[in-house]
Amino acid sequence: MNRNILIRELREHGILNDIPNISDVNMKFLCDVIRISGTRDMLEIGSANGFSGICFWDVLESQWWHLTTVEFSQPAYDAARENIERAGLSDTITQIFWNALDVIPGLDDASFDFVFIDGMKRRSKDFLELSWSKCKKWWVIILDDVIKFRDKMVGLEEYLTDNNISYNILPIDGDDGVMMIVKR
Ligand SMILES: C[S@@+](CC[C@H](N)C(=O)[O-])C[C@H]1O[C@@H](n2cnc3c(N)ncnc32)[C@H](O)[C@@H]1O
Repeated sequence: MNRNILIRELREHGILNDIPNISDVNMKFLCDVIRISGTRDMLEIGSANGFSGICFWDVLESQWWHLTTVEFSQPAYDAARENIERAGLSDTITQIFWNALDVIPGLDDASFDFVFIDGMKRRSKDFLELSWSKCKKWWVIILDDVIKFRDKMVGLEEYLTDNNISYNILPIDGDDGVMMIVKR
């Protein structure tokens, strides 16, 4: 199926069904960062119905990419599997069905150069902490919704301060934005 048509269809479906997919502005921002960082191995925490992963196809495919995406809701995982199949991306997107908090420790160290954290907001600090050793040097990490849900992100600011991790908060999205960390 034509991927751009599928993305439009999924966007409409997401709006009608209250699926918290990334916004168009965020999608464009993430695709730009993926492109300029030369990302090839990406980890996504929180697949939902596969919308964001499918949106990254264009830029990632041109970079010989691979995406690993983790989801712990069975209906969301099943919907993502169907959508990823419809997009013809089953070979390039690896889906993992389980709690990312249990999955990430078992992933290979230094295997990713981009992590997109979009799971439950109150565990954002844990996702970040667990992902740290799984990333190569010069990796990029993006946390979504850090302005709107700042209060829910328990322990995140303390973790960043205690570990001397610098970051930028980019208000790209009207009332919300992303946190970007570049590990050197
Ligand atoms: C905001 S949605 C993700 C949206 C998706 N990235 C997109 O833009 O299309 C968050 C998803 O993360 C999943 N999730 C939350 N916490 C998780 C965890 N600990 N492990 C795996 N999946 C998780 C939820 O079930 C939900 O589907």
